[in-house]
Amino acid sequence: MKIALVGYGKMGHIIDDIATKKGHEIVARLNETPTKDNLNNPDVIIEFSNPEVAFENIKVGLEHNIPVICGTTGWLDRKSEIEEIALKNNTAFLYGSNFSLGVNLFFALNEKLADLMKGFPEYQVQLEEIHHTHKKDAPSGTAISLAEGIIKNDDRFDAWKLDETQNKELGIFALRQDEVPGTHRVSYKSAVDELEIKHTAFNRNGFALGAVIAAEWIIGKKGNFTIKDVLFDK
Ligand SMILES: NC(=O)c1ccc[n+]([C@@H]2O[C@H](COP(=O)([O-])OP(=O)(O)OC[C@H]3O[C@@H](n4cnc5c(N)ncnc54)[C@H](O)[C@@H]3O)[C@@H](O)[C@H]2O)c1
Repeated sequence: MKIALVGYGKMGHIIDDIATKKGHEIVARLNETPTKDNLNNPDVIIEFSNPEVAFENIKVGLEHNIPVICGTTGWLDRKSEIEEIALKNNTAFLYGSNFSLGVNLFFALNEKLADLMKGFPEYQVQLEEIHHTHKKDAPSGTAISLAEGIIKNDDRFDAWKLDETQNKELGIFALRQDEVPGTHRVSYKSAVDELEIKHTAFNRNGFALGAVIAAEWIIGKKGNFTIKDVLFDK
């Protein structure tokens, strides 16, 4: 498989390593918006850049009929536009707020726990994420997915909000510490005890491997997908 890496920072480098070891060819390593020429005719694009440029990068790829895997977070208010562009160009788009298998299992556990806890209002839910200090967006895309999983299953909440909340908002706390790759914690606390689920990434390899597996999976597909389609399509 020929892969173009759009965004060649921390994630791009690790994806390069993992994809090459799996026998794929990296035909472009870009830290700029792609063009037909600099993409160098890939089978698939893997996009890990930053929130300001992701929309344009994905759009260019799809408009050249190339499937795009995107892990960049913080631009999702325009996701429906991208999904339309993918359909219009008869190609495929896949977004994952988090590409690691462990976090996707954590998402499923979080939804089950929210469904269980909705009948016990004496427990207050708290959602917290910790990331390295270079991260540009807050809260993390993963924390937003966790919040959406709780909101979907517990009608005490109808929206999420960073920090202070009111009415039916679910609060997310975002902490920034040194080089933490990503830690997420959901807890339910009553006056007498606390129940907690937590995912801790030790490094970025799990995210990068998930992105490469998604790229392998998307070849030949049309439409819009998420990483769940890849990991739980058994
Ligand atoms: N979905 C996941 O599993 C997951 C995991 C880790 C990180 N992320 C997200 O991925 C993104 C990248 O993370 P990172 O740690 O590699 O960041 P990074 O800052 O190390 O790398 C981003 C790269 O994008 C480049 N860039 C700047 N402008 C560009 C443009 N116009 N076109 C293409 N590239 C451009 C920068 O030069 C840089 O090399 C962030 O949004 C982060 O939150 C997602």
